Amino acid sequence: MVDVILIDACGVSRTLHVAEGQSLMQSAVSAGVRGIVGECGGSSMCATCHVYVDEAFAGHLPTPLETELEMLECTASERLPNSRLACQIKLSAALDGLVVHLPERQQ
Ligand code: FES
Repeated sequence: MVDVILIDACGVSRTLHVAEGQSLMQSAVSAGVRGIVGECGGSSMCATCHVYVDEAFAGHLPTPLETELEMLECTASERLPNSRLACQIKLSAALDGLVVHLPERQQ
């Protein structure tokens, strides 16, 4: 299991205990986390799973693919250097304790 800490725009945090191999978007949607929509189901087609990855974990994630970078141009909230799509973050033991911040809005 992997622990992921999600902090919403108001500063309220929630920890999810999820199985390795799931995407962050799948895990959050399954847990009913408000603030991650996942409208396209994880196909890098909607940008409604936009998150800000805590600096401490930025180097643990693979480089985003071109499709992710293109969708990050379409986020409802401001894109920052640590912006990523949660559907493209596959949870593994290396990401245990991952901290992500949720944007103010996804649509
Ligand atoms: S769920 Fe649509 S881009 Fe991530």
